[in-house]
Amino acid sequence: MFRCVNSANETDENMLKHFLSLWPGWQNYNAANILSTPSWKLFVKSRDISSGGEEIIACLIFSVVSPTAEVIDLYVLPSSRKQGIAKHLFMYATAQLNHLDKVSEIILEVRPSNKPARSLYQSLGFLLIAERKKYYSDGENAMILRKDLSH
Ligand SMILES: CC(C)(COP(=O)(O)OP(=O)(O)OC[C@H]1O[C@@H](n2cnc3c(N)ncnc32)[C@H](O)[C@@H]1OP(=O)(O)O)[C@@H](O)C(=O)NCCC(=O)NCCS
Repeated sequence: MFRCVNSANETDENMLKHFLSLWPGWQNYNAANILSTPSWKLFVKSRDISSGGEEIIACLIFSVVSPTAEVIDLYVLPSSRKQGIAKHLFMYATAQLNHLDKVSEIILEVRPSNKPARSLYQSLGFLLIAERKKYYSDGENAMILRKDLSH
């Protein structure tokens, strides 16, 4: 199931807390704080688990200041990759942002060395608009990509 997780829902908060513990770079972040950040929207793909309930297997975070949504981060659990999950999560989130939040462009940063992510964004129709030199702490440049949703 693809959906937007909700700060008012305790089950969502617990699912996100577990997912963050598996997401490199996000282990020290607090799920409640993330969900209550006003401009942030989190879209997830979840699946049913045998013990009942659901677990998140992919998460896509945006900062939304209409008409622009900026991707904060995206992560699919390693065991669930290469099944089209990131692509379909992106398509779901994009349609929601476009219809409900009047978003007409999506911007993101990606490392030139991140081939899977670059292929994903290319397949979704993102175009290179700029490069930021030595953007990352290890000195790697960032590619700035944009997708126009206005037509
Ligand atoms: C990048 C990432 C989100 C892709 O997730 P995914 O669910 O495996 O991607 P999908 O299965 O939806 O793939 C969609 C397209 O992306 C590309 N792609 C995905 N994984 C790829 C890989 N390992 N190598 C090359 N291309 C890849 C392909 O073009 C694919 O289209 P195709 O299936 O028609 O060939 C995932 O690898 C991930 O979580 N990586 C670590 C975090 C990260 O890098 N996030 C991005 C930050 S900018």
